[in-house]
Amino acid sequence: MSHRVLVIPGDGIGAEIMPHVVRVLTALGPAFDFSYADMGGCAIDAHGTPLPPDTLAAAKAADAVLLGAVGGPQWDDLPMDRRPEKGLLGIRSGLDLFANLRPALLFAPLADASSLKAELVADLDLLIVRELTGGIYFGEPRGVTVDNGGRRGFNTYVYDEREIARIARVAFDLAAKRNGKVTSVDKANVLEVTQLWRDVVNEVHAEYPQVALDHLYVDNAAMQLVRAPKQFDVVVTGNMFGDILSDVAAMLTGSLGMLPSASLNASGQGMYEPVHGTAPDIAGRNVANPLATILSAAMMLRYSLNEAAAADRIEKAVQTVLERGFRTADIMPSGRAVGLEVLGTDAMADAVIAALS
Ligand code: IPM
Ligand code: MG
Repeated sequence: MSHRVLVIPGDGIGAEIMPHVVRVLTALGPAFDFSYADMGGCAIDAHGTPLPPDTLAAAKAADAVLLGAVGGPQWDDLPMDRRPEKGLLGIRSGLDLFANLRPALLFAPLADASSLKAELVADLDLLIVRELTGGIYFGEPRGVTVDNGGRRGFNTYVYDEREIARIARVAFDLAAKRNGKVTSVDKANVLEVTQLWRDVVNEVHAEYPQVALDHLYVDNAAMQLVRAPKQFDVVVTGNMFGDILSDVAAMLTGSLGMLPSASLNASGQGMYEPVHGTAPDIAGRNVANPLATILSAAMMLRYSLNEAAAADRIEKAVQTVLERGFRTADIMPSGRAVGLEVLGTDAMADAVIAALS
C-alpha cells in the first residue's frame, strides 16, 4: 500500500523547496500517493481563507502532511483571524497535533556555524517537546475590549491535567529511547497553571522509573540553553515557552535552515515542517536551503509512515553531502571556505539524491 501524503507547499521558499523534497522522497523506494493543497497566504489569495475546509479534510484523510512554510509581508496587515498563521494554528488544532517535536541536532561539519564556541555545541543533540494545541495560544477568553474609554487586551493561560499528562508521556517515551533525561520547563514560582504542570509531570514520571526528571523555570532554562546546552536531552514545555525556547535551541545549531519538526496526534498522524519560515527576501532565487524540509520528510517516514530505514537513509545522505563540503549559502562560513562548495536549492537536493544509495 502506498503512503498517502498531503503536500502543502505554502508560500515563499516553502513552495520553492517542496518539489525538490518530493523528488527526494520519490527516489527512495517506498510508494507514495502525493496530493496537494493550499494553506497560508496562497490560500488567502485563491480561496479567501488561510485554511480552506478542503485542505483540512484532505489533511485528516492523509497518513501524513508535509508542509513547506506559510506567510509573507503581503498578508501581514490582515486582521488576526485571516492571517496565514491562522491556517497553521487551525490545522494544528483541527488534527489535534498536540505533540510538537523540535530536535536541535548539530551536524559535526557545521560546528563552526554556531554563534557559541564549537566545544559548547559539538555533538549537540537535544529535543524540545512542545505542547502545541493548548496553553495561552488557544485559551479562552481572549480579545481586546474597550472599558471606561481605555483598551484592554487579554489572553488565558490554561491547561487541564489531561493535556499535561499526554505531552509528558510523549516526552518520557522519547527520553527512554534517547539519553533517559527529561527537563520540564515552567514558571511554577509565579503561575498556578504551571504549578499544576509541574505536579502532573511529577505524577506521570512515576510511570517512568528509568527516566530522570528535573524542572527548570523558563528564564533559567533560556539561560542554560545558551550557557551549557549539552546538559539537555528532552525538554518538555507548554506552547508559548516552547515557541520561544525552540528558536533559541535552533540557533545553537547555527542555522534555522537545517532544522526539521514533527507535530503528532494520538493516532500517530503527523504534520512535518521545517522550523524556518518563508524567507520572502530570498524566495524564487534558488538559494534556499532545502535540508530542513528534507529532514522533516525523514521525520515523517520515521514517526508516521513506519519507514525507519528510509528515514535513516535520508539523514545519512544529508550527513554525507555536508561531509563532502556541499553547502547552501546560509550554512557557508563567512571566512575560510577551503574545500566547500556553494550549491543552489536544486543542486543541494540533487546531491542528497545522489548520496542516498
Ligand atoms: C512556530 C511559529 C508559529 C508559532 C507562528 C507562525 C504562529 O512561530 O511554529 O514556532 O508561534 O507556533
Ligand atoms: Mg516559533
